[in-house]
Amino acid sequence: MLEFDNLIEFIRTEVNQNLKKIPIPESPKYLYDPIRYSIHAKGKRFRPIIVHLCGKTNGVDSEVLMKISLAVELLHNFTLVHDDIMDNDILRHGKETIHERWDSSTAILAGDGIYTLAQIILNNLPEKITEISRYFNHTTLEICEGQALDKQFENDVNITEDMYIDMINKKTGALLGASAALPLIYNGATKKIIKTFEQFGRCLGKGFQIHDDLLEITANSHTMGKSLGSDILEGKQTILVIKARNQFPDEWISLLNDTNEFELIKKIKDFFNDSGILEETRLIANKFFNASLELLNELEDVNTKNLAQLVKLIEKRTY
Ligand code: IPE
Ligand code: IPE
Ligand code: MG
Ligand code: MG
Repeated sequence: MLEFDNLIEFIRTEVNQNLKKIPIPESPKYLYDPIRYSIHAKGKRFRPIIVHLCGKTNGVDSEVLMKISLAVELLHNFTLVHDDIMDNDILRHGKETIHERWDSSTAILAGDGIYTLAQIILNNLPEKITEISRYFNHTTLEICEGQALDKQFENDVNITEDMYIDMINKKTGALLGASAALPLIYNGATKKIIKTFEQFGRCLGKGFQIHDDLLEITANSHTMGKSLGSDILEGKQTILVIKARNQFPDEWISLLNDTNEFELIKKIKDFFNDSGILEETRLIANKFFNASLELLNELEDVNTKNLAQLVKLIEKRTY
């Protein structure tokens, strides 16, 4: 276990150092100050870790893995900068979000810049630029679709659990899937193997997002380093809300209508807990984590021990 923990810490440190080495000009400050602020902040770097661990199972060159992992992390950061505008959130990585510290115009442009930096890094790969870029761009469009559905679903009481799963598969699953698949694509693995790695990442991503929706309710904003509770106020259709609406329609409506704004989040937390919805949701997240482990078992002649440990690490995260 210690060996695995050290490996994860090693990858995190290397990724952070390499993020710092990306040349970011001093001027114009309007563009580059917020970009620096965003990419040097304290992310957990789970996506780069997936890239490195998946690539290592197949002997992919470590410099190539670093480039792919930086591109994936930059894409992730770009989506967070825009997501915080879309979700009206004021805290990320324990600091003010870019649109809160500066303004929305600054944050939109910073996001555009961060995404472009990701493309520039991929263009510097020694080989397979077309294949990698094609897959990367499809992933980005899928994340945009997921984000579109997330917004379109707000306050829509007709959203089902299946529609929610489809939405999180796009907004979060796609990028974890890409993090797992891209190193294998680089190494020219068979379509079947690439697909298995992609599905592994997608299942992990769905578990991750459901767990994140749970943490939105159970964790505190200080530990998570981001705004919490805003999901409910924005009318987000998370799996918890969908379950509450379907299983306890009357209680749910009266809770929303008869509670004052200050007590609402606390009362909703108690409701999810007392009704068993929290526990039910935990089981669904576990189902996706277990599905990702089963996919690893399908990979013959591949040492998947570290990946299995990573699933356990992600499953246990508290922030
Ligand atoms: C946040 O992802 C967005 C979701 C998909 C829930 P992370 O929790 O991985 O964010 P960072 O990278 O640590 O900031
Ligand atoms: C984040 O979704 C997914 C993307 C940014 C694509 P959320 O909006 O649920 O995540 P947080 O809670 O802001 O991190
Ligand atoms: Mg969002
Ligand atoms: Mg958000």
